[in-house]
Amino acid sequence: MQTLTAIADVRACVRAWRLAGERVAFVPTMGNLHAGHISLIDLARRHGDRFVASIFVNPMQFGPNEDFAHYPRTPARDAEMLAAAGCDLMFMPDVSEMYGPGTTPPTRVEVPDISRVLCGEFRPGHFDGVATVVAKLFNIVQPDIAIFGEKDFQQLVVIRRMAADLCFPTTIVGAPTVREADGLAMSSRNQYLAADERAVAPVIHAVLSDTVRAIARGEADLAALERDGAARLAARGLRVDYFAIRRRLDLAAPSAGDRELVVLTAARLGKARLIDNLQVDRP
Ligand code: PAF
Repeated sequence: MQTLTAIADVRACVRAWRLAGERVAFVPTMGNLHAGHISLIDLARRHGDRFVASIFVNPMQFGPNEDFAHYPRTPARDAEMLAAAGCDLMFMPDVSEMYGPGTTPPTRVEVPDISRVLCGEFRPGHFDGVATVVAKLFNIVQPDIAIFGEKDFQQLVVIRRMAADLCFPTTIVGAPTVREADGLAMSSRNQYLAADERAVAPVIHAVLSDTVRAIARGEADLAALERDGAARLAARGLRVDYFAIRRRLDLAAPSAGDRELVVLTAARLGKARLIDNLQVDRP
């Protein structure tokens, strides 16, 4: 596996693969890799001849009071995991390589509407930061295919829309969420949980699962299900940002005819803000 930090070197490497007719699959990450990331990587390897991963903790997607400075950074371990997973190229730029000297604010990519709801309401500017860095990474790596986890469902919807609107020739693929044995979705931020909080956290998956079962059985009062889900999480001590049932395609509030839904939640537990979701089809 090559490790590159300069944009020009990545471009040269990818250009050579393309000239040889090889397809490039890409997994953007912020590092601190876990089994969830490795599942994205396994999927990427099935879709391309060459596989690139990026490790970049993107300051633009963190708010002023968020965990950018403390976000776990484990580059040596990440490199070992990527090499073991068969990665051809690890791109690990620093902030100035991605954003320049930082004397003026960078150009932003903004995906309207879907960036402002749900997590966007509680993390203003977050999805602009995500859309901007992913657009930059796509321009650098020029992948045929890019893989994103369904755990960050809103991010996946934002990126699909960004890629379509900006005519990126990249196929966006969502990969299923990887869970711990007790149902908790894997996330680098699970490390922020104290032992007693970690014991409570699986309630998120339990409540999402109950909600999905109710919808699949034909329960039509979605507002009541949202209220009940949020109340059950709050009763276990979580501070709920939202518990929402939305249309999968664009995260709009579902109308009666919409069948493909997703139940999403974000809740704070101790120092961690946990997000999760489950997809469901209405009968
Ligand atoms: O999901 C993440 O790890 C990040 O939001 C991403 C897509 C790598 C952009 O920084």
